[in-house]
Amino acid sequence: MFDKFDREINYLRVSITDRCNLHCSYCRPKEGISLKGHDDILRYEEIIRIVSMAVKLGMIKVRITGGEPLVRRGFIEFIAELKKINGLQDISLTTNGILLAQYAQGIFDAGIHRINISLDSLDKEKYFHITNGGNLDAVLRGIAKAEEIGFSPIKINAVAIKGFNDDEVLAFAKLAVDKPFQVRFIELMPMGQCNLDHGEDYFPMTQLIQKISSKYELEQLKVKKSKSAGPATIFRIKGGRGEVGFINPVSSHFCSTCNRLRLTADGRLRACLLKEEEIDLKKALSENCSDAVLERLIREAILLKPKHHDLDCSDRHLKKCHRDMSEIGG
Ligand code: GTP
Ligand code: 5AD
Repeated sequence: MFDKFDREINYLRVSITDRCNLHCSYCRPKEGISLKGHDDILRYEEIIRIVSMAVKLGMIKVRITGGEPLVRRGFIEFIAELKKINGLQDISLTTNGILLAQYAQGIFDAGIHRINISLDSLDKEKYFHITNGGNLDAVLRGIAKAEEIGFSPIKINAVAIKGFNDDEVLAFAKLAVDKPFQVRFIELMPMGQCNLDHGEDYFPMTQLIQKISSKYELEQLKVKKSKSAGPATIFRIKGGRGEVGFINPVSSHFCSTCNRLRLTADGRLRACLLKEEEIDLKKALSENCSDAVLERLIREAILLKPKHHDLDCSDRHLKKCHRDMSEIGG
């Protein structure tokens, strides 16, 4: 499937729940957000129907996201059902890692072998603070378990926040030296209702790369259009086991190579992370729509994809997206 700008759209990100066991300051406010009711969320069978149709139309890659996907009951059986979809070449998962030690083996056995883990601090207290109560040791146990089981690649996502984790950049880089992980720094995007000021707390990637280069020799990897290639610019650290990556949605858009569509937990197909246009599939499914209608709606969503989002460094304090990240799935 191609969009209006001739980009091939073959990657569907599926948020299976808006619930999360953490409350990261940049993601959702401490006082909480109004969560969707059970009936507002797609049932697993509905997601499978949508994904099956999307794969028939040309999607080859699915990433399961949340909220936190591991908090939704039955997600392992759901993964096993996804695995049965003919033509779906790659299934991956993004998690905060809190429950990973417990579920990693089940996830691996169900057929997901690559995983991205959000981890914004390597300091116990700072981690507790940014996540509003999260236990760093639990995440580290989950990462160790994932490594032991043989997940590959393991990608660690750290949202770069000025005055919070900019002093940990070298510690994160060291993690990529010591372990075969891809440690990625992500620029803070102005999403939803959150406790950070995206103008004040934004930490530009150029400064981050400079910090790492002051200690380590970085070698940029050639862009390889593999199944696991994503929006990150990747560098090998000389002498290290892993890699570091930079995801710069603010300072340098990667929209021209965007291959994504997003399915929100409440059943909307979202054409761009940072634009509000959505197509309501939940409503269509609840009206028992035919496969032909479902196909038309998926194609419509792809045609809604904008050429690019309009977030840039000069207006990064502006909320460009009113939905919370936890509803969209990143
Ligand atoms: P792979 O490349 O398959 O490993 O996945 P990914 O890096 O796209 O997924 P992940 O869930 O780990 O997302 C990492 C970060 O990139 C998150 O902060 C996402 O919000 C951001 N991101 C992913 N896709 C897009 C996109 O299309 N647009 C923008 N602006 N940000 C994105
Ligand atoms: N800006 C950048 N990344 C974010 N994530 C969540 N909210 C934001 C934001 N406002 C990241 C999470 C997770 C990924 C799916 O998205 O940390 O790693």
